[in-house]
Amino acid sequence: MLSFSDNGGRHLVPASAGSVFSARIEGLSHDGRGITRVEGKVWFVEGALPGETVLVKPTRGKRSYSLGIAQQLLERSPARVDPRCPAFGVCGGCALQHIDYGHQIEFKKASVIEALDRVGVEPPSDVCEISAAPWSYRRRARLGVRLVPKKGGVLVGFRERNKSFITPLPTCPVIHQSVDRVLPKLPALIERLAIPNRIPQIEIAAGENATALVFRHLSALTDNDVSRLREFGAQENLLVYTQAKGPDTAVPITSEGVPVLFYTLKRFDLKICFSATNFIQVNAEVNERIVGLVTDWLNPGDRDRVLDLFCGLGNFSLALARQSGEVIGVEGEPALVAQARENAAVNQIANARFEVLDLFDESIKDWRPGQCSHVLVDPPRSGAIEVLKVANTHIRPRMIAYVSCNSATFARDARYLTGSGSYQLTRLAVADMFPHTSQVETAALFVRHDGAAKG
Ligand SMILES: C[S@@+](CC[C@H](N)C(=O)[O-])C[C@H]1O[C@@H](n2cnc3c(N)ncnc32)[C@H](O)[C@@H]1O
Repeated sequence: MLSFSDNGGRHLVPASAGSVFSARIEGLSHDGRGITRVEGKVWFVEGALPGETVLVKPTRGKRSYSLGIAQQLLERSPARVDPRCPAFGVCGGCALQHIDYGHQIEFKKASVIEALDRVGVEPPSDVCEISAAPWSYRRRARLGVRLVPKKGGVLVGFRERNKSFITPLPTCPVIHQSVDRVLPKLPALIERLAIPNRIPQIEIAAGENATALVFRHLSALTDNDVSRLREFGAQENLLVYTQAKGPDTAVPITSEGVPVLFYTLKRFDLKICFSATNFIQVNAEVNERIVGLVTDWLNPGDRDRVLDLFCGLGNFSLALARQSGEVIGVEGEPALVAQARENAAVNQIANARFEVLDLFDESIKDWRPGQCSHVLVDPPRSGAIEVLKVANTHIRPRMIAYVSCNSATFARDARYLTGSGSYQLTRLAVADMFPHTSQVETAALFVRHDGAAKG
Protein backbone atom coordinates (compact mmCIF):
# COMPACT_ATOMS: atom_id res chain seq x y z
CA MET A 1 0.00 0.00 0.00
CA LEU A 2 1.41 3.40 -0.90
CA SER A 3 1.09 6.31 1.45
CA PHE A 4 -1.99 8.49 1.50
CA SER A 5 -3.25 11.37 3.55
CA ASP A 6 -6.63 11.84 5.20
CA ASN A 7 -9.23 12.84 2.67
CA GLY A 8 -11.95 13.64 5.18
CA GLY A 9 -12.60 17.28 4.37
CA ARG A 10 -12.42 16.85 0.61
CA HIS A 11 -15.18 14.44 -0.34
CA LEU A 12 -18.19 16.25 -1.67
CA VAL A 13 -20.96 13.90 -0.62
CA PRO A 14 -20.93 12.10 2.75
CA ALA A 15 -20.02 8.41 2.47
CA SER A 16 -23.13 7.23 4.23
CA ALA A 17 -24.20 3.63 3.81
CA GLY A 18 -24.57 2.73 0.18
CA SER A 19 -24.63 6.24 -1.31
CA VAL A 20 -22.30 7.25 -4.11
CA PHE A 21 -19.78 9.87 -3.06
CA SER A 22 -16.93 11.78 -4.58
CA ALA A 23 -13.38 11.38 -3.31
CA ARG A 24 -9.84 12.19 -4.22
CA ILE A 25 -7.60 9.13 -4.49
CA GLU A 26 -4.34 9.38 -2.60
CA GLY A 27 -2.62 6.03 -2.99
CA LEU A 28 -2.61 2.68 -4.74
CA SER A 29 -2.99 -0.64 -2.92
CA HIS A 30 -0.70 -3.59 -3.61
CA ASP A 31 -3.42 -5.06 -5.87
CA GLY A 32 -3.92 -1.90 -7.89
CA ARG A 33 -6.94 -0.32 -6.18
CA GLY A 34 -7.11 3.38 -5.43
CA ILE A 35 -6.92 4.30 -1.75
CA THR A 36 -8.75 7.15 -0.11
CA ARG A 37 -9.69 7.97 3.46
CA VAL A 38 -13.11 9.35 4.23
CA GLU A 39 -14.20 10.34 7.72
CA GLY A 40 -11.27 8.37 9.12
CA LYS A 41 -12.09 5.20 7.23
CA VAL A 42 -9.92 3.69 4.50
CA TRP A 43 -11.58 2.94 1.17
CA PHE A 44 -10.15 0.72 -1.56
CA VAL A 45 -11.61 1.89 -4.84
CA GLU A 46 -11.42 -0.36 -7.86
CA GLY A 47 -10.51 1.40 -11.11
CA ALA A 48 -9.26 4.62 -9.47
CA LEU A 49 -5.72 5.99 -9.60
CA PRO A 50 -3.77 8.27 -7.24
CA GLY A 51 -4.38 11.94 -8.00
CA GLU A 52 -7.82 11.27 -9.48
CA THR A 53 -11.17 12.47 -8.20
CA VAL A 54 -13.84 9.86 -8.77
CA LEU A 55 -17.42 9.08 -7.89
CA VAL A 56 -17.20 6.03 -5.65
CA LYS A 57 -19.96 3.46 -5.54
CA PRO A 58 -19.66 1.53 -2.25
CA THR A 59 -19.65 -2.25 -2.75
CA ARG A 60 -18.71 -3.71 0.64
CA GLY A 61 -18.07 -2.46 4.12
CA LYS A 62 -15.78 -4.09 6.64
CA ARG A 63 -15.01 -2.95 10.17
CA SER A 64 -11.60 -1.47 9.37
CA TYR A 65 -12.03 -0.58 5.69
CA SER A 66 -14.57 -0.35 2.88
CA LEU A 67 -14.57 -1.33 -0.76
CA GLY A 68 -15.94 0.63 -3.66
CA ILE A 69 -15.76 0.95 -7.39
CA ALA A 70 -15.03 4.11 -9.39
CA GLN A 71 -18.32 4.84 -11.10
CA GLN A 72 -17.29 8.05 -12.79
CA LEU A 73 -14.01 9.81 -13.36
CA LEU A 74 -14.16 13.49 -12.41
CA GLU A 75 -10.46 14.28 -12.61
CA ARG A 76 -8.07 12.07 -14.57
CA SER A 77 -4.52 11.07 -13.67
CA PRO A 78 -1.87 11.67 -16.36
CA ALA A 79 -0.77 8.06 -15.68
CA ARG A 80 -4.10 6.70 -16.93
CA VAL A 81 -4.16 4.94 -20.31
CA ASP A 82 -6.78 2.95 -22.15
CA PRO A 83 -6.41 -0.74 -21.33
CA ARG A 84 -5.46 -2.83 -24.35
CA CYS A 85 -7.64 -5.80 -23.39
CA PRO A 86 -11.43 -5.59 -23.74
CA ALA A 87 -11.81 -7.92 -20.73
CA PHE A 88 -9.77 -5.63 -18.46
CA GLY A 89 -11.67 -4.86 -15.26
CA VAL A 90 -13.51 -8.18 -15.34
CA CYS A 91 -10.66 -10.64 -15.95
CA GLY A 92 -8.57 -11.34 -12.85
CA GLY A 93 -5.40 -11.82 -14.91
CA CYS A 94 -4.35 -8.14 -15.05
CA ALA A 95 -4.85 -5.34 -12.53
CA LEU A 96 -2.80 -2.44 -13.92
CA GLN A 97 -3.48 -2.18 -17.65
CA HIS A 98 -5.10 1.23 -17.05
CA ILE A 99 -1.76 2.60 -15.82
CA ASP A 100 0.90 3.68 -18.28
CA TYR A 101 3.76 1.18 -18.24
CA GLY A 102 6.43 3.50 -16.80
CA HIS A 103 4.14 4.34 -13.88
CA GLN A 104 3.45 0.65 -13.28
CA ILE A 105 7.15 0.11 -12.70
CA GLU A 106 7.38 3.17 -10.45
CA PHE A 107 4.42 1.84 -8.48
CA LYS A 108 6.02 -1.58 -8.06
CA LYS A 109 9.31 -0.03 -7.02
CA ALA A 110 7.58 2.18 -4.46
CA SER A 111 5.63 -0.77 -3.08
CA VAL A 112 8.83 -2.74 -2.42
CA ILE A 113 10.50 0.24 -0.77
CA GLU A 114 7.43 0.82 1.35
CA ALA A 115 7.31 -2.85 2.40
CA LEU A 116 10.94 -2.54 3.58
CA ASP A 117 10.22 0.77 5.23
CA ARG A 118 7.37 -0.71 7.18
CA VAL A 119 9.68 -3.25 8.82
CA GLY A 120 12.48 -0.73 9.34
CA VAL A 121 14.90 -1.99 6.68
CA GLU A 122 16.72 0.72 4.78
CA PRO A 123 16.89 0.03 1.05
CA PRO A 124 20.10 0.82 -0.86
CA SER A 125 20.07 4.31 -2.39
CA ASP A 126 20.05 2.91 -5.90
CA VAL A 127 17.24 0.49 -6.76
CA CYS A 128 17.60 -0.99 -10.21
CA GLU A 129 14.75 -1.88 -12.52
CA ILE A 130 14.48 -4.87 -14.78
CA SER A 131 11.82 -4.89 -17.42
CA ALA A 132 11.30 -6.15 -20.94
CA ALA A 133 8.57 -6.14 -23.60
CA PRO A 134 5.36 -5.82 -21.56
CA TRP A 135 3.02 -7.76 -23.91
CA SER A 136 2.83 -11.41 -25.03
CA TYR A 137 5.24 -12.39 -22.26
CA ARG A 138 3.37 -15.18 -20.43
CA ARG A 139 4.96 -18.45 -21.47
CA ARG A 140 3.35 -20.37 -18.61
CA ALA A 141 -0.30 -20.05 -17.55
CA ARG A 142 -3.33 -21.99 -16.42
CA LEU A 143 -6.55 -21.26 -18.27
CA GLY A 144 -9.84 -22.13 -16.61
CA VAL A 145 -12.51 -23.95 -18.62
CA ARG A 146 -16.22 -24.14 -17.83
CA LEU A 147 -19.33 -25.19 -19.70
CA VAL A 148 -21.97 -22.52 -19.04
CA PRO A 149 -24.88 -23.16 -21.45
CA LYS A 150 -26.68 -19.94 -20.49
CA LYS A 151 -23.58 -17.98 -21.53
CA GLY A 152 -23.51 -19.77 -24.87
CA GLY A 153 -21.33 -22.83 -24.21
CA VAL A 154 -17.75 -23.42 -23.12
CA LEU A 155 -15.81 -20.50 -21.65
CA VAL A 156 -12.00 -20.51 -21.68
CA GLY A 157 -10.00 -17.86 -19.86
CA PHE A 158 -8.67 -16.62 -16.54
CA ARG A 159 -10.90 -16.29 -13.50
CA GLU A 160 -12.83 -13.09 -13.00
CA ARG A 161 -11.42 -10.62 -10.52
CA ASN A 162 -12.31 -11.73 -6.97
CA LYS A 163 -14.75 -14.30 -8.33
CA SER A 164 -14.69 -17.92 -9.40
CA PHE A 165 -16.40 -17.32 -12.78
CA ILE A 166 -14.35 -17.72 -15.95
CA THR A 167 -13.82 -14.66 -18.13
CA PRO A 168 -14.17 -15.76 -21.76
CA LEU A 169 -11.03 -14.61 -23.53
CA PRO A 170 -11.07 -14.61 -27.33
CA THR A 171 -7.70 -12.89 -27.09
CA CYS A 172 -5.20 -12.09 -24.36
CA PRO A 173 -2.49 -9.48 -24.94
CA VAL A 174 -0.18 -10.79 -22.23
CA ILE A 175 -0.17 -14.47 -23.15
CA HIS A 176 2.43 -15.99 -25.46
CA GLN A 177 1.46 -15.41 -29.09
CA SER A 178 1.44 -19.13 -29.94
CA VAL A 179 -1.47 -19.49 -27.47
CA ASP A 180 -3.19 -16.16 -28.11
CA ARG A 181 -3.74 -17.08 -31.75
CA VAL A 182 -5.65 -20.28 -30.80
CA LEU A 183 -7.65 -18.87 -27.87
CA PRO A 184 -10.79 -18.25 -29.99
CA LYS A 185 -10.70 -21.85 -31.22
CA LEU A 186 -10.51 -23.56 -27.83
CA PRO A 187 -14.20 -23.28 -26.76
CA ALA A 188 -15.42 -24.95 -29.97
CA LEU A 189 -12.76 -27.66 -29.68
CA ILE A 190 -13.89 -28.54 -26.14
CA GLU A 191 -17.58 -28.35 -27.05
CA ARG A 192 -17.00 -31.04 -29.66
CA LEU A 193 -15.54 -33.46 -27.08
CA ALA A 194 -17.80 -36.06 -25.41
CA ILE A 195 -17.06 -34.54 -21.97
CA PRO A 196 -17.10 -30.73 -22.38
CA ASN A 197 -18.17 -30.35 -18.74
CA ARG A 198 -15.28 -32.49 -17.44
CA ILE A 199 -12.37 -30.36 -18.65
CA PRO A 200 -11.58 -27.92 -15.81
CA GLN A 201 -8.37 -26.35 -17.12
CA ILE A 202 -5.76 -26.11 -19.84
CA GLU A 203 -2.18 -25.45 -18.84
CA ILE A 204 0.11 -23.79 -21.31
CA ALA A 205 3.87 -23.99 -21.49
CA ALA A 206 5.72 -22.25 -24.30
CA GLY A 207 9.31 -23.15 -25.01
CA GLU A 208 11.57 -21.63 -27.65
CA ASN A 209 11.03 -24.66 -29.87
CA ALA A 210 7.35 -25.51 -29.27
CA THR A 211 4.25 -24.77 -27.21
CA ALA A 212 2.34 -27.36 -25.21
CA LEU A 213 -1.31 -27.33 -24.16
CA VAL A 214 -2.18 -29.73 -21.33
CA PHE A 215 -5.88 -30.62 -21.14
CA ARG A 216 -6.85 -31.73 -17.64
CA HIS A 217 -9.81 -34.13 -17.79
CA LEU A 218 -11.92 -35.43 -14.89
CA SER A 219 -13.50 -38.31 -16.85
CA ALA A 220 -12.04 -40.61 -19.48
CA LEU A 221 -11.68 -39.18 -22.98
CA THR A 222 -13.14 -41.25 -25.82
CA ASP A 223 -11.07 -42.38 -28.80
CA ASN A 224 -12.87 -39.72 -30.81
CA ASP A 225 -11.90 -37.06 -28.28
CA VAL A 226 -8.28 -38.11 -28.47
CA SER A 227 -8.38 -37.96 -32.29
CA ARG A 228 -9.93 -34.47 -32.20
CA LEU A 229 -7.30 -33.19 -29.83
CA ARG A 230 -4.54 -34.80 -31.87
CA GLU A 231 -5.90 -33.26 -35.06
CA PHE A 232 -6.10 -29.85 -33.39
CA GLY A 233 -2.48 -30.11 -32.25
CA ALA A 234 -1.34 -31.07 -35.74
CA GLN A 235 -3.33 -28.28 -37.42
CA GLU A 236 -2.16 -25.60 -35.00
CA ASN A 237 1.39 -26.83 -34.65
CA LEU A 238 1.01 -27.31 -30.90
CA LEU A 239 1.98 -30.18 -28.62
CA VAL A 240 -1.18 -31.51 -27.00
CA TYR A 241 -1.09 -33.36 -23.69
CA THR A 242 -3.85 -34.91 -21.63
CA GLN A 243 -3.74 -35.08 -17.86
CA ALA A 244 -6.04 -37.44 -15.93
CA LYS A 245 -4.83 -36.68 -12.40
CA GLY A 246 -1.79 -34.91 -10.90
CA PRO A 247 0.93 -33.18 -12.98
CA ASP A 248 2.92 -36.41 -13.32
CA THR A 249 0.03 -37.97 -15.27
CA ALA A 250 0.36 -35.49 -18.17
CA VAL A 251 1.11 -37.44 -21.35
CA PRO A 252 1.55 -36.27 -24.93
CA ILE A 253 -1.28 -37.31 -27.20
CA THR A 254 1.10 -38.65 -29.81
CA SER A 255 3.99 -40.83 -28.84
CA GLU A 256 6.14 -40.05 -31.85
CA GLY A 257 8.37 -37.09 -32.46
CA VAL A 258 7.45 -35.14 -29.31
CA PRO A 259 10.19 -32.56 -28.87
CA VAL A 260 11.47 -31.71 -25.39
CA LEU A 261 10.50 -28.15 -24.52
CA PHE A 262 13.38 -25.84 -23.71
CA TYR A 263 14.43 -22.24 -23.17
CA THR A 264 17.93 -20.88 -23.36
CA LEU A 265 20.02 -18.62 -21.15
CA LYS A 266 22.24 -17.32 -23.91
CA ARG A 267 24.82 -15.49 -21.86
CA PHE A 268 25.56 -18.73 -20.00
CA ASP A 269 25.30 -20.93 -23.08
CA LEU A 270 22.59 -22.98 -21.36
CA LYS A 271 19.69 -24.97 -22.70
CA ILE A 272 17.12 -25.51 -19.95
CA CYS A 273 14.74 -28.36 -20.76
CA PHE A 274 11.39 -28.63 -19.05
CA SER A 275 8.24 -30.71 -19.15
CA ALA A 276 4.82 -29.22 -19.92
CA THR A 277 3.85 -29.16 -16.23
CA ASN A 278 7.20 -28.12 -14.68
CA PHE A 279 7.55 -24.77 -12.95
CA ILE A 280 9.40 -22.27 -15.14
CA GLN A 281 9.67 -18.51 -14.65
CA VAL A 282 6.79 -16.90 -16.54
CA ASN A 283 8.69 -14.21 -18.43
CA ALA A 284 11.64 -15.42 -20.51
CA GLU A 285 13.38 -12.09 -21.03
CA VAL A 286 13.02 -10.85 -17.47
CA ASN A 287 14.12 -14.24 -16.17
CA GLU A 288 17.29 -14.14 -18.25
CA ARG A 289 18.08 -10.68 -16.91
CA ILE A 290 17.49 -11.63 -13.28
CA VAL A 291 19.70 -14.70 -13.64
CA GLY A 292 22.42 -12.47 -15.14
CA LEU A 293 22.08 -9.80 -12.47
CA VAL A 294 22.11 -12.21 -9.52
CA THR A 295 25.11 -14.07 -10.96
CA ASP A 296 26.96 -10.76 -11.36
CA TRP A 297 26.11 -9.76 -7.79
CA LEU A 298 27.28 -13.05 -6.30
CA ASN A 299 30.13 -13.34 -8.76
CA PRO A 300 31.42 -16.64 -7.37
CA GLY A 301 34.82 -17.98 -8.38
CA ASP A 302 36.47 -21.36 -8.90
CA ARG A 303 37.00 -21.93 -5.20
CA ASP A 304 33.48 -21.04 -4.13
CA ARG A 305 30.68 -23.38 -3.15
CA VAL A 306 27.20 -22.05 -3.87
CA LEU A 307 23.94 -23.26 -2.35
CA ASP A 308 20.84 -22.61 -4.52
CA LEU A 309 17.72 -23.10 -2.40
CA PHE A 310 14.33 -23.64 -4.10
CA CYS A 311 16.35 -24.32 -7.24
CA GLY A 312 13.54 -25.73 -9.41
CA LEU A 313 14.96 -27.17 -12.63
CA GLY A 314 18.32 -25.46 -12.21
CA ASN A 315 17.55 -22.02 -13.68
CA PHE A 316 20.01 -20.20 -11.41
CA SER A 317 22.13 -23.19 -10.32
CA LEU A 318 23.41 -24.00 -13.79
CA ALA A 319 24.26 -20.37 -14.60
CA LEU A 320 26.15 -20.13 -11.29
CA ALA A 321 27.90 -23.44 -11.99
CA ARG A 322 29.50 -21.89 -15.08
CA GLN A 323 31.67 -19.75 -12.83
CA SER A 324 31.99 -21.44 -9.45
CA GLY A 325 33.70 -24.43 -7.90
CA GLU A 326 30.54 -26.26 -7.00
CA VAL A 327 26.79 -25.64 -6.86
CA ILE A 328 24.32 -27.56 -4.72
CA GLY A 329 20.71 -27.08 -5.75
CA VAL A 330 17.99 -27.97 -3.27
CA GLU A 331 14.33 -28.29 -4.16
CA GLY A 332 11.21 -29.92 -2.72
CA GLU A 333 9.67 -31.21 -5.93
CA PRO A 334 11.30 -34.51 -7.02
CA ALA A 335 10.28 -34.04 -10.68
CA LEU A 336 12.10 -30.69 -10.76
CA VAL A 337 15.21 -32.15 -9.17
CA ALA A 338 15.21 -34.91 -11.80
CA GLN A 339 14.88 -32.24 -14.50
CA ALA A 340 17.69 -30.18 -12.94
CA ARG A 341 19.99 -33.22 -13.03
CA GLU A 342 19.07 -33.84 -16.64
CA ASN A 343 19.73 -30.19 -17.46
CA ALA A 344 23.17 -30.43 -15.87
CA ALA A 345 23.86 -33.45 -18.10
CA VAL A 346 22.45 -31.78 -21.25
CA ASN A 347 24.79 -28.84 -20.66
CA GLN A 348 27.74 -31.03 -19.65
CA ILE A 349 27.93 -29.42 -16.25
CA ALA A 350 29.66 -31.69 -13.76
CA ASN A 351 30.04 -29.30 -10.81
CA ALA A 352 26.33 -29.01 -9.93
CA ARG A 353 24.42 -31.55 -7.87
CA PHE A 354 20.81 -31.52 -6.80
CA GLU A 355 18.93 -32.76 -3.76
CA VAL A 356 15.27 -33.21 -2.89
CA LEU A 357 14.47 -31.61 0.45
CA ASP A 358 11.38 -30.04 2.00
CA LEU A 359 12.79 -26.67 2.99
CA PHE A 360 9.70 -25.84 5.07
CA ASP A 361 9.77 -29.00 7.12
CA GLU A 362 10.13 -28.57 10.86
CA SER A 363 13.35 -30.58 10.77
CA ILE A 364 15.05 -28.01 8.54
CA LYS A 365 16.40 -26.24 11.61
CA ASP A 366 18.74 -29.21 12.10
CA TRP A 367 19.87 -29.29 8.46
CA ARG A 368 23.62 -28.70 7.99
CA PRO A 369 24.57 -28.53 4.30
CA GLY A 370 28.23 -27.72 5.08
CA GLN A 371 30.28 -24.68 4.24
CA CYS A 372 29.07 -22.49 1.42
CA SER A 373 30.45 -19.11 0.42
CA HIS A 374 27.26 -18.02 -1.35
CA VAL A 375 23.58 -18.81 -0.87
CA LEU A 376 20.73 -18.01 -3.25
CA VAL A 377 17.10 -18.33 -2.18
CA ASP A 378 14.18 -18.11 -4.60
CA PRO A 379 11.26 -19.27 -2.47
CA PRO A 380 7.51 -19.43 -3.16
CA ARG A 381 5.27 -16.65 -1.81
CA SER A 382 5.58 -17.79 1.78
CA GLY A 383 9.23 -16.71 1.89
CA ALA A 384 12.28 -18.45 3.31
CA ILE A 385 12.58 -17.51 6.97
CA GLU A 386 13.16 -21.04 8.31
CA VAL A 387 16.00 -21.85 5.97
CA LEU A 388 17.47 -18.35 6.27
CA LYS A 389 17.81 -18.99 9.99
CA VAL A 390 19.92 -22.05 9.14
CA ALA A 391 21.95 -20.00 6.66
CA ASN A 392 22.51 -17.14 9.07
CA THR A 393 23.35 -19.27 12.08
CA HIS A 394 25.16 -22.28 10.66
CA ILE A 395 26.26 -21.65 7.07
CA ARG A 396 27.15 -17.98 7.38
CA PRO A 397 27.88 -17.41 3.69
CA ARG A 398 29.65 -14.25 2.51
CA MET A 399 26.62 -13.33 0.46
CA ILE A 400 22.97 -14.23 0.28
CA ALA A 401 21.00 -13.40 -2.87
CA TYR A 402 17.24 -13.39 -2.45
CA VAL A 403 14.78 -13.56 -5.36
CA SER A 404 11.22 -12.97 -4.21
CA CYS A 405 7.71 -12.94 -5.64
CA ASN A 406 6.12 -11.51 -2.49
CA SER A 407 7.22 -8.15 -1.09
CA ALA A 408 5.69 -8.78 2.34
CA THR A 409 7.56 -12.01 3.08
CA PHE A 410 10.67 -10.59 1.42
CA ALA A 411 10.55 -7.58 3.77
CA ARG A 412 10.01 -9.86 6.77
CA ASP A 413 13.01 -12.01 5.78
CA ALA A 414 15.16 -8.94 4.98
CA ARG A 415 14.36 -7.66 8.44
CA TYR A 416 15.47 -10.97 9.94
CA LEU A 417 18.80 -10.96 8.05
CA THR A 418 19.65 -7.32 8.68
CA GLY A 419 18.27 -7.39 12.24
CA SER A 420 20.49 -10.36 13.08
CA GLY A 421 23.41 -7.97 12.83
CA SER A 422 25.24 -10.22 10.36
CA TYR A 423 24.05 -8.99 6.97
CA GLN A 424 23.59 -5.72 5.17
CA LEU A 425 21.19 -5.19 2.29
CA THR A 426 23.51 -3.82 -0.39
CA ARG A 427 21.63 -4.31 -3.68
CA LEU A 428 18.01 -4.22 -4.65
CA ALA A 429 16.29 -4.70 -7.99
CA VAL A 430 12.63 -4.62 -8.84
CA ALA A 431 11.92 -6.85 -11.82
CA ASP A 432 8.71 -6.69 -13.78
CA MET A 433 8.19 -10.40 -14.32
CA PHE A 434 4.41 -9.93 -14.66
CA PRO A 435 3.65 -6.64 -16.48
CA HIS A 436 0.08 -5.31 -16.03
CA THR A 437 -0.49 -7.47 -12.97
CA SER A 438 0.11 -6.33 -9.42
CA GLN A 439 2.69 -9.04 -8.82
CA VAL A 440 6.16 -7.76 -7.98
CA GLU A 441 9.41 -9.69 -8.32
CA THR A 442 12.36 -8.50 -6.28
CA ALA A 443 16.02 -9.46 -6.23
CA ALA A 444 18.28 -8.45 -3.37
CA LEU A 445 21.81 -9.01 -2.18
CA PHE A 446 22.79 -9.32 1.48
CA VAL A 447 26.49 -9.17 2.30
CA ARG A 448 28.00 -10.33 5.56
CA HIS A 449 29.39 -7.47 7.62
CA ASP A 450 32.78 -9.13 8.02
CA GLY A 451 32.56 -10.32 4.41
CA ALA A 452 33.97 -13.75 5.34
CA ALA A 453 32.42 -17.18 5.13
CA LYS A 454 32.56 -19.41 8.17
CA GLY A 455 35.59 -21.61 8.67
C1 LIG B 1 9.75 -19.32 -7.29
S1 LIG B 1 10.07 -21.01 -7.66
C2 LIG B 1 11.77 -20.90 -8.09
C3 LIG B 1 12.31 -22.01 -8.92
C4 LIG B 1 13.70 -21.81 -9.52
N1 LIG B 1 14.60 -21.10 -8.67
C5 LIG B 1 13.61 -21.13 -10.87
O1 LIG B 1 14.15 -20.03 -11.02
O2 LIG B 1 13.02 -21.71 -11.81
C6 LIG B 1 10.02 -21.71 -6.08
C7 LIG B 1 10.42 -23.15 -6.00
O3 LIG B 1 10.25 -23.58 -4.65
C8 LIG B 1 9.89 -24.93 -4.67
N2 LIG B 1 9.29 -25.28 -3.39
C9 LIG B 1 8.03 -25.03 -2.96
N3 LIG B 1 7.85 -25.53 -1.73
C10 LIG B 1 9.02 -26.11 -1.36
C11 LIG B 1 9.45 -26.78 -0.21
N4 LIG B 1 8.63 -26.99 0.82
N5 LIG B 1 10.73 -27.22 -0.15
C12 LIG B 1 11.57 -27.02 -1.19
N6 LIG B 1 11.21 -26.39 -2.32
C13 LIG B 1 9.95 -25.94 -2.42
C14 LIG B 1 8.94 -25.03 -5.85
O4 LIG B 1 8.82 -26.37 -6.29
C15 LIG B 1 9.61 -24.11 -6.85
O5 LIG B 1 10.50 -24.82 -7.67
